[in-house]
Amino acid sequence: MSKVIAIDGPAGAGKSTVARRLAEAMGYTYLDTGSLYRAVTWYLLNANVHLTNGGFSSVPDGMIRDALNPLDIRLRCGRVWVGQEDVTDRIRDMEVSRRVSMVSERRPVREKLLSLQRAAADRNIVVDGRDIGTVVFPNAFLKVYLDADMSIRSDRRLRELSDAGVATDYGEVLENLKMRDERDSKREIAPLSRAPDAIYLDTTSLSVDEVIAVIRKLADDRARSGYAIWKKIFYRTVWTILKALTKVYLFRQISGKSFVNAIQGPAILASNHLSHLDPPLVAVSMNRPIHFLAKRELTGIPIFGHVIAWLSAVGVRRGIMDREAMAHVRSILASGGIILIFPEGTRSRDGQLHDAKAGFGKIVLECGVPVVPVRIIGSDRSFPPGAWFPRPSPVRVIFGEPLYLSGSSSQSDPSESALRDRYERIGCEVMDRIAALSAEK
Ligand code: CDP
Repeated sequence: MSKVIAIDGPAGAGKSTVARRLAEAMGYTYLDTGSLYRAVTWYLLNANVHLTNGGFSSVPDGMIRDALNPLDIRLRCGRVWVGQEDVTDRIRDMEVSRRVSMVSERRPVREKLLSLQRAAADRNIVVDGRDIGTVVFPNAFLKVYLDADMSIRSDRRLRELSDAGVATDYGEVLENLKMRDERDSKREIAPLSRAPDAIYLDTTSLSVDEVIAVIRKLADDRARSGYAIWKKIFYRTVWTILKALTKVYLFRQISGKSFVNAIQGPAILASNHLSHLDPPLVAVSMNRPIHFLAKRELTGIPIFGHVIAWLSAVGVRRGIMDREAMAHVRSILASGGIILIFPEGTRSRDGQLHDAKAGFGKIVLECGVPVVPVRIIGSDRSFPPGAWFPRPSPVRVIFGEPLYLSGSSSQSDPSESALRDRYERIGCEVMDRIAALSAEK
């Protein structure tokens, strides 16, 4: 059976660029539904149908249906054809952009285009639009809702239009996006809205490549979901055994559990790191299953690497910006998961807290999810670096109050050094909160 990847979202969120390149990378066909609505608008403009704001809404449905009857739209090799005319470039101009939302809210228009869109699903497709996950393909294999700050969306659209040689300015683009967002989300039929099972992705501070990497990861995971139930059973079995063992063997104590158990959605657990015992200790101290970052040296060990991957370890290469690992982390958080990250990057050899790595601040800033500080005490005495087996010695896991650090940058193009500064500040703030947890009883 063919697969549909549905990408919805407001204007300028990056849907069409992402969808086109994702389709290319996955060998799928790309269906740009916005261009169909634009082509209808262009056609009606040329058919002299009254397209002024008040005027079009009073044109009767029957008349629109008649006007659309002879219309033949086709998408061929990335070009949009209306009858014998290639209208690909013309449908992007501001005259069409100003009117398209008013046209697309009319029932005869949506009816005409619905069957055309559904007929395209005789093969694997990536489709972008406003109502793809909610109306056109409610059973899509994967649904993603892309969003971004309004100012970023306007910047992107302005750049796109000037590259295509369309004369416009920032103010006009901003107004057009605002107007379309408002109209598209408030219309009666098939409004722009996020399907309940769509994965929400804020692309404000992500590059196109980064967004594509996340969606590919989500699609890969979905394709392997047959294993998911076995993974869950494996995780819970190991969790139950370790929970009992750490209680009797390490006299494990937990504080602040309510902070972390109250979080329903995605979150980052940021913990100090003393020993290889830390990931299982945190995992058994809370109810929800967690993912954790582990260095590639560990996930690459035969058998053991597979076992920890089944226990939700995400392999990360140290010392470089590991794009694959970042995409994995984003896909976990976008799907509502929890991930344990050690901001210091490696185990502390002296038991003291050290500075967070810049990459940690980057993840926090880009993902915009709550960060729960976690302090682990005593795991280094039980299982210090170099030891072969843990020895009985008390350990303590303390969860702190979640921190809500601003997720997205409203600056359209912050400098490299300004960003690095923000990453560092976030790292410091989180490490301070972890440090403060030691005093709590
Ligand atoms: O690329 P951009 O986000 O500017 O818009 P588009 O995808 O080209 O779509 C243009 C307009 O078509 C939108 O503002 C909607 O009014 C309409 N549209 C829709 O109603 N349903 C869709 N599935 C796709 C587009």
